[in-house]
Amino acid sequence: MDVKNALDCFRQDPCLPGWDDPYSVYAELRLEAPIHWCEGPRMWMIIAYHEAAEQLKDHRFSRQQHLDKLISRFGAGHIFDRQKNDLPYMDGTDHARMRHHVINAYRRIDFPSLKGFTEAFLDSRLESLSRQKQFDVVHEVADLLPVMVVSELLGVPADQQEQVGRKVGSFVRARGLTQTESTMERGDDSIAFYEEYFLPLIHDKRKNPSSDLLSRLIADPQEGVHLSDEQLLLIISSNFYSASVYTLRLLVSTLAWVMALNPDSFARIQDNRELVVPALEEVLRWDAPAQATNASVALEDIEIGGKLVKAGDSLSVLVGAANRDPKTFPDPDQFLIDRHPNPHLSFAPGLHQCLGLQIARMEGEAALHAFCDHFSSLSVIQSESQRFVGDRFRGFDRLMLDVSRR
Ligand code: HEM
Repeated sequence: MDVKNALDCFRQDPCLPGWDDPYSVYAELRLEAPIHWCEGPRMWMIIAYHEAAEQLKDHRFSRQQHLDKLISRFGAGHIFDRQKNDLPYMDGTDHARMRHHVINAYRRIDFPSLKGFTEAFLDSRLESLSRQKQFDVVHEVADLLPVMVVSELLGVPADQQEQVGRKVGSFVRARGLTQTESTMERGDDSIAFYEEYFLPLIHDKRKNPSSDLLSRLIADPQEGVHLSDEQLLLIISSNFYSASVYTLRLLVSTLAWVMALNPDSFARIQDNRELVVPALEEVLRWDAPAQATNASVALEDIEIGGKLVKAGDSLSVLVGAANRDPKTFPDPDQFLIDRHPNPHLSFAPGLHQCLGLQIARMEGEAALHAFCDHFSSLSVIQSESQRFVGDRFRGFDRLMLDVSRR
C-alpha cells in the first residue's frame, strides 16, 4: 500500500489495527505535524512524544464529556451511562479520590506470594508443553496467565475463570475509539453478565469481609470510603478483570514475538538475567499493547503542536506512535535492550496512569524468565500466526512458535 492510502487508513482508524508495521506511517505523519485530525473516530490524535506527555497531565480535558457525546449519539440507557463511574472516564477530584482508594487497596496485595503463584503457573504450563516443539503461545500461555492471576487476586473460583474471561473482549471493545451499534450492544451484554457474576460475590464479601483485594476495595473504614455496588462492579469488571486480562494477553504474545525476531538479544538475556527488566521496558516501548488512550474532550480552546483543538473537540494520545519519536528515542525503530533512559508512555504516565503497572511488569518479567528457563531459542511460524485486529490494542490472536528446549 502506498503512503497516501496508508494516510487515508490512518484517518479512518488511527491505530491501524492488525498492520505489521504501522510505525512507518506514524513517522511520515510526524514529519507533517505532532497532532492530526481523524475523520473515522472524529477526534484529534497526538503522535509526537512531547505533546503526548504534556496532554496526559493536562487538567483541561474531560473524559466524562466524551461519554456524553457517545450518549447523545447512541441514546441513554447503555454501557456509556454506566461508564461514568468507571475510573478511565472519571474526572477531577472524584477521579483522584477513587484512584487513591484503589491504590490503597493495591498496596496491601501480597506481591511476593502473587509473584510465586505466577512463576509456578508459568513453569508448570511450559513444562506441560515439553513434548511439543510447535505450539500457539497465545492459546497455551497468554490466554491463561492473566486470567489466572487476576482471578487469584479477586477470588474467582478456578472452574468459573474461563467463562468470566470470555466476556473480556466485548467489554474492552466498548471502550474503543470508534463505536458502532454492535460494539455497544456487545458491551451492554458483557456488563449484564459481569453484573450477574460479580454482584453476588460483592454482596457476600460485604457480609463476610476478609483481607482479600475485593474486601479492601468495598470499604476502607480508616479512610471513610464505602463504594456502591455499581462503582465496585465497574472497577472490578472493567479494570481489574477486562482491561488487565486483555492487555497482558497481548503483552505476552508480543514478548514471544520480539524475542523470536531478536535472537541475539534473547541469548544475551539468557546469559544475564539482569537484562530482563530493561528488555521488558523496551518491548513495552517498541510495540505497546495499548496503543492509544481513552478519548477526552477539550474544556477550552487549546493549542497543541501548532493546531487549535477547539473546546468540545475529542482527542486521544497514540502512545504507540509517541514511543517511536526520534526526538526522545534515538534510533526509535531499533529494539535495544540497553536503551537508557527509556521513558516510554505505554502505561500513560499522568492523570490516568495505569494502576496495574506493577502487576503487569511482574507478569511480563515472569513470562520472560520462563521463556529463558525453558527455551534455548524460539522462532515464529508466520503462516500459522495471526495479528490481533481491534482498535487501540496490539498483539496477536495466534502466534505459532517453533522452540528448541534447553
Ligand atoms: C501490559 C499490561 C497493561 C498495559 C499496557 C496497560 C496500559 C494502560 C493504559 C495505557 C492506561 C491508561 C488508559 C487511558 O488513559 O485511557 C491504563 C489504565 C488503567 N489500567 Fe492498565 N495496563 C496494563 C495492565 C493492567 C493491569 C494488570 C491492571 C489491574 C490489575 C490495570 C489497571 C488499570 C486501571 C485501573 C486503569 C485506569 C486508571 C485511571 O483511569 O485512572 N492495567 N492501563
